Amino acid sequence: MTDDSRTTDAPGTLTPDQFARLAAAGAAAPSLHNSQPWRFLAADDRKGMLVFADPSRAVSATDPTGRALHVSVGAAVLNLRVAAAALGLATCLRLLPDGARPDLVAELRFAPPTPGEHLTADAELYPAIEQRHSSRQPFTNRDVPERLVGDLMAAADHEGVVLAMLEEAETRRVLALTTDAERRTAADLAREAETRSWVRLEAPATDGIPAAALGPLDRDARVPVRSFTGHAPQAFGRGDPRTNVPSSARFEALPQLATFTTAHDDRSAWVRTGMALERVWLLGTVHGLRASVLHQAVEWPDTRWQLRDPETGPGYVQIVLRLGFGPPGAASPRRPVAEILHLD
Ligand SMILES: Cc1cc2nc3c(=O)[nH]c(=O)nc-3n(C[C@H](O)[C@H](O)[C@H](O)COP(=O)(O)O)c2cc1C
Repeated sequence: MTDDSRTTDAPGTLTPDQFARLAAAGAAAPSLHNSQPWRFLAADDRKGMLVFADPSRAVSATDPTGRALHVSVGAAVLNLRVAAAALGLATCLRLLPDGARPDLVAELRFAPPTPGEHLTADAELYPAIEQRHSSRQPFTNRDVPERLVGDLMAAADHEGVVLAMLEEAETRRVLALTTDAERRTAADLAREAETRSWVRLEAPATDGIPAAALGPLDRDARVPVRSFTGHAPQAFGRGDPRTNVPSSARFEALPQLATFTTAHDDRSAWVRTGMALERVWLLGTVHGLRASVLHQAVEWPDTRWQLRDPETGPGYVQIVLRLGFGPPGAASPRRPVAEILHLD
């Protein structure tokens, strides 16, 4: 679904509507607890966009260093690039361009593609921005096709991040670490209260996680999806939204987990991780794949350390993603564009 609408004035100059379209794409990115910790500012010459982290939307008990916040903003940056490609514009990206403005995460400059530069691969991801949702539902036991695995790994590599598809033994080890971290989080009053504060069970909201997007918990306790409501599942029950007790269901026998690993563990690596996560997730979405993040073990220093695969050498695990085929997730709300986009 590429858009033929042309930019106005000088080549690469965007109209307010086009900025709004880019911002809506950026805002559709995944973020920790749907916190949407970003702000977008149109460049003075209307040929670029500045992307800021919004520390007022930090999830600070769970993410004290802002690592997940930067991963989230990185995912938004990738969406901006894809949306620009769908407008026929190439993007020149600078990450963390200004040491004096620590909240400035990225500067994107837009221009018509140079001869021989192709935007098709990025533009083809554009429809998936709207279709992509976290699916916390049980998946089927169907494997992710080998060829798609290769393409997903290449997509992460494109952003300088290593995507590893875990084999059975590694999967079981990572599931055990995630279960351990999930238990620890449940016992941590500050984190537990913070997580619950992002659940939106009733009122219409523009952020956080709505009831419809919460999946069941695994009846057999093999797949440790995050319990956002702080309750154990009702065994064999349907759950009860009034008491926040989640339902339970049978999950896939052995989930397909993937890890995103970077060589360094700084802001730039976190932003790149977000870009890789979103590129992989959009490409998967194009191919009918569903995904949800299992982030708990990354949130505690010791379980995070153990997530490293001893076989593959040094590196920092940034994200654990569960991939598979199954029902789509429900959409989660987004803040209005007028709140996040500043045109002057
Ligand atoms: C850094 C990061 C960590 C996340 N951790 C989890 C998690 O542990 N469990 C989960 O179900 N979803 C997790 N998510 C997914 C977000 O909850 C989700 O992206 C957000 O609620 C918006 O929903 P959407 O992905 O359907 O657009 C994470 C997302 C990011 C970017």
